[in-house]
Amino acid sequence: MTDRTTTHDSPPDLSSRDPDWWRQAVVYQVYPRSFADADGDGLGDIRGITQRLTHLAALGVDALWLSPFYPSELADGGYDVADHRDVDPRLGTLDDFDTMVAEAHRLGLKVIADIVPNHTSRQHRWFEEALRAGPGSPARDRYVFRDGRGQHGELPPTDWQSVFGGSAWRRVPDGQWYLHLFAPEQPDLNWQNEEVRADFRTTLRFWSDRGVDGFRVDVAHALVKDLDEPLRDLGDIGATGEDALLRVPPGSHPYYDRDEVHEVYRDWRKIFDAYTPPRTAVAEAWVPGDRRVLYARPDELGQAFNFEYLRAGWDAGELRQVITESLRTARAAGASATWVLSNHDVVRHTSRLMLPSGTDDNAWLLSDGRAPAVDAAAGLRRARAATLLMLALPGSAYVYQGEELGLPEVADLPTEVLQDPIWEQTGRVRKGRDGCRVPLPWTTGGPSYGFGAGAAWLPQPDDFAAYAVEAQDGVEGSTLELYRSALRLRRKLLQGESLTWAEDVPAGVLRFDRSDGWQCVTNLSDRPVALPAGEVLLCSAPLDDGRLGPDTTVWLGPGLSVG
Ligand code: NOJ
Repeated sequence: MTDRTTTHDSPPDLSSRDPDWWRQAVVYQVYPRSFADADGDGLGDIRGITQRLTHLAALGVDALWLSPFYPSELADGGYDVADHRDVDPRLGTLDDFDTMVAEAHRLGLKVIADIVPNHTSRQHRWFEEALRAGPGSPARDRYVFRDGRGQHGELPPTDWQSVFGGSAWRRVPDGQWYLHLFAPEQPDLNWQNEEVRADFRTTLRFWSDRGVDGFRVDVAHALVKDLDEPLRDLGDIGATGEDALLRVPPGSHPYYDRDEVHEVYRDWRKIFDAYTPPRTAVAEAWVPGDRRVLYARPDELGQAFNFEYLRAGWDAGELRQVITESLRTARAAGASATWVLSNHDVVRHTSRLMLPSGTDDNAWLLSDGRAPAVDAAAGLRRARAATLLMLALPGSAYVYQGEELGLPEVADLPTEVLQDPIWEQTGRVRKGRDGCRVPLPWTTGGPSYGFGAGAAWLPQPDDFAAYAVEAQDGVEGSTLELYRSALRLRRKLLQGESLTWAEDVPAGVLRFDRSDGWQCVTNLSDRPVALPAGEVLLCSAPLDDGRLGPDTTVWLGPGLSVG
């Protein structure tokens, strides 16, 4: 089967003014508080990022995406933003930020900022003003305040549930309730309020003017709600998650994926296009694929994260279907496809891909990663195969910090160190996302393995020493060197955004051609298979007597060397 995806058939030009630089870019996600700590306070910071940018340049990525670095009380790891146009003083200053952007650009790296338009922190001056101003005030209209139900307004206005557990409404002392789809510290903004819209335009220009090249848009599908009175209960539709969207006619959920949200992004596109090159954007929208790509239309955000790929099991048939469908929907929208295996919200793929299909990730975390136990070496082998497969796909790949080191999930964090609000808000039933946010190991020794001069804000396990950059740098066969080689080769090999599946493959094997003889073969079966003809460019694990072993990906090609 041939899947010719777009007309973008020329090699990508990653030079700084190319308007299409993002279409097949590899973007590295930095979780700032866990990347590198320059001032030794245990929390990663902007200067730490600047000092380690050479790592990203040597890795060969095209851009870095920074999760929120704004002032925040850290009720949700920084996704509770107290000021969208400043830097958290614990992480640095705007000057530090400018230095970081300048250094990134000098090294040929683009910078993508995470913006959080759905909600603010309760410490945002607007929310503090809203609390003071009282019911019916213009200040309250920037958020979603309502009277409660029940004789004395003692019941929440609707049955809507927070993604983090419990009611999505919180009562304030004067008796009104405000909406928070996430933590109570994250009040939702009212996107029907023109001042909110205008303020975000200012924010987009503020960072674009400082040289930010693109934006990752947090919860892009939730901004616009149906606020017509009376507000509607969800009843048994279910409030959280994408599954709820499959049970209602598209666009009819009261607060997810409403058609009106697209007006916001069409408006933003005018701002993006006023810059050279145009600022890029990627939507975080947990909605079904055919609706998700609407956010990625060229007159909107341009890209949307493809979470179907992240959630696919380690199964040849399932992956092929998801890849084909993702390329089809991206092409139909005029976008390039995106691929993600790990991020700051999910169990790292080194561990996750080993969990038997149907395993509840949270139950596994609650067992401290013991039920079932994951063999670290086998997990790493599979993760490396998955990565080489991802990096051969047309479109852009998002790599999460530490996956280039093969870091596993830290599943056994003691509950007393957990920081994710999910733990407390669910009554200590869901362990949350801290296990993928443990600070990076840079060196094999030191109080936090080179992360900083002191202990890190989340404890690192002893085996992090073996994963450190220092332990892998220049070591043949290490995961770090595999990523470096793959990214170097990818730049040489990339052509158009299409692939052609091979049909004559053994069961459990995926094989496709990209262009000019570049082929990717992944063996997801449990036995070695014969290697097709072609020069071996790169292999995720040593060949098994000339054959491709289980959980292995090979790139075959037209005679390019890795160097
Ligand atoms: C999605 C972010 O990725 C996640 O970390 C955060 O908790 C929610 N949005 C709320 O902002």
